[in-house]
Amino acid sequence: MKHYTFGVDYYPEHWPRERWATDAKMMREMGIEVVRMGEFSWAMFEPGEGRFDFSVLDEAIGLLAAQGIDVILGTPTAAPPAWIIEKNPEIQPTDWRGQQRFFGGRHHDCQSNPVYREHIRRYVTAFAAHFADNPAVVGWQVDNELGNSHGDLCYCESCEKRFRVWLKEKYGTIGELNRAWGTAFWSQDYPDFEHIRSPKITAAWGQNPSHDLDWRRFSSDLVCEFHQLQADILRAAAPGKFITHNLMGFSSKPSYYALGEQLDFASHDQYPGGHFHARHDEYRADWHAAELDFIRAVKQKPFWIMEQQSGITGWEVLGRTPRPGQLGLWAMQCVAHGADTIVFFRWRSCPMGTEQYWHGLLPHSGQPGRYFREVEAFMKQYAPLLREMQGALPQAEVAILRSYEQEYAFQIQPHHPQHRYTQHLMTYYKALHRANVPVDFVGEHHDWSGYKVLIAPLQFLMTPSLSEKLHAFVENGGQLVLTWRTGVKDESNLCHTDMPVPCLVDDLCGLQLAEYDCLRDTDGAVLWEGERLACSQWCDVVEVTTARPVAVYGHEFYAGTPAITCNEFGAGKCWYVGTTLSDALADRMVAALLASADIAPLMDTPHGVEAVRRVKGGKTWLFLLNHNACPETVALPAGFTPWDGAPWAGQLEAHGTRVFVSVSE
Ligand code: GAL
Ligand code: ZN
Repeated sequence: MKHYTFGVDYYPEHWPRERWATDAKMMREMGIEVVRMGEFSWAMFEPGEGRFDFSVLDEAIGLLAAQGIDVILGTPTAAPPAWIIEKNPEIQPTDWRGQQRFFGGRHHDCQSNPVYREHIRRYVTAFAAHFADNPAVVGWQVDNELGNSHGDLCYCESCEKRFRVWLKEKYGTIGELNRAWGTAFWSQDYPDFEHIRSPKITAAWGQNPSHDLDWRRFSSDLVCEFHQLQADILRAAAPGKFITHNLMGFSSKPSYYALGEQLDFASHDQYPGGHFHARHDEYRADWHAAELDFIRAVKQKPFWIMEQQSGITGWEVLGRTPRPGQLGLWAMQCVAHGADTIVFFRWRSCPMGTEQYWHGLLPHSGQPGRYFREVEAFMKQYAPLLREMQGALPQAEVAILRSYEQEYAFQIQPHHPQHRYTQHLMTYYKALHRANVPVDFVGEHHDWSGYKVLIAPLQFLMTPSLSEKLHAFVENGGQLVLTWRTGVKDESNLCHTDMPVPCLVDDLCGLQLAEYDCLRDTDGAVLWEGERLACSQWCDVVEVTTARPVAVYGHEFYAGTPAITCNEFGAGKCWYVGTTLSDALADRMVAALLASADIAPLMDTPHGVEAVRRVKGGKTWLFLLNHNACPETVALPAGFTPWDGAPWAGQLEAHGTRVFVSVSE
């Protein structure tokens, strides 16, 4: 596959034809090598059933190709046109309250609806055939950000029907489903699969957690099936073109591990200054780093950014404008964490519709301003770096296990009102980030044997096979971190019985749960070698069998009992953390782990300066990223020299970045 450095998302259909050649020329001059188009304009490309008109795309692709720019085309199935909705209003989605959602935004579709799928089949078949032999079209994107605006959809009759088929395949008999869902409670027995519905709002609000978990698994599978329908058509028509998808970091509706199986490589949309987190004074670079590290886990290889922030963003309300240097800094953070290609969203701010204020590289006027000039300078400077570094990975020794299954289970039962699965993982990630330790995310299905440390919080649903895999990791010398709410449920979301918690891993942890406390109205404290550090949300009260207490609680009637323990097992160690760590406690925990596993951080940096590496062959690229609004002084580790040969005086500018290299013989 050809490698690209930089690209841009382009919507020629929003602009007069006379401008397109100028755009294409400006793109080439600034260093754009690839463009994504077409993912929202179904109404233009098929103005009536079976009447296709791809002339806008044909012409734009021709002008881009003349400048040497290649194209990725999106299928527009996130925005079915008005004439389809008029003809088949039933394809609009239904929410949790049984209320239909209507045309006028996007994602106004039900992904299981067979009538909608017929419309899709017709469009995608014609579209794929039309562009299959166009050499400038190098790849496809199916739909757009699957799961976005659809997170709480769809509960319609068509989806219920598809859910019943999914359940029949899974359980075989209704008796087995009734057992797995614990329907003896509150008279929920189903005499027949035909009686099962989507878990809509109930009179009591509460849902059956087993029903709900299967619904979330089904909804994930449905998104993958929806993607597969289109991917199959595209691949059959054009086997030489790649398929990718613009994923959204930690978004959880579909499992990206599962969706990733259909992709040639993963892509991600990165908006650090998006209207959701609009403050300059809030440090979010750790979250952005984590989402990038997670996207790298989808295919366990470098990825693309398909939408990289290009300016001030927002819909009805806006965030802060990116400060000088930030657009380059944010793009560089993606590169540092494994992006091989950066595509900026969007070429030019749109004059119409919902996203008039989601700014592009060019303002509405079309005249280059600060955003454009900053990004252009960044691209010119770093295109050679992206070329040489292609395929390089961070060589992490620490992994964090991120599981969609466990996340779904905690979405259903968070236990503590402030407890969120991803935030919990982030307490560990953030401490590693502060220490400049490279991290990989992994799933249950990945091979963990290359890591010295595996942090696997909240292994709530414990199956024999997961238990076996965790045991094997430690037996073979790994250091494993398990936490509260591990080994509580089976795969059906029913509580394990007749075994000590943490069920199936109590021997690995070297302890058993006596009871627990949910810290609803208070924070707690942990004493670690005399130091008092805050904890929150939850406290497991444990009785150790073979584990050694590392730190004890400093509050409540269980003060003095173990809060954190470590158990030698086989050639490795299993740590158990009975509470949610404060930042200070997480720093202490991470320091203990690194010392125990003999892992050295990349380097020491001031707060807000991130150090990241990528490695390929014998070469290491070290990235220093200053997320602070003031210059910072940094001491470089031995053996590194500036990648660009420019002098290094030990200082990073405000929002500045530098890259260094070291080559081992
Ligand atoms: C992304 C989406 C784009 C555009 C952008 C700005 O989520 O993929 O199509 O909508 O946000 O809102
Ligand atoms: Zn539906």
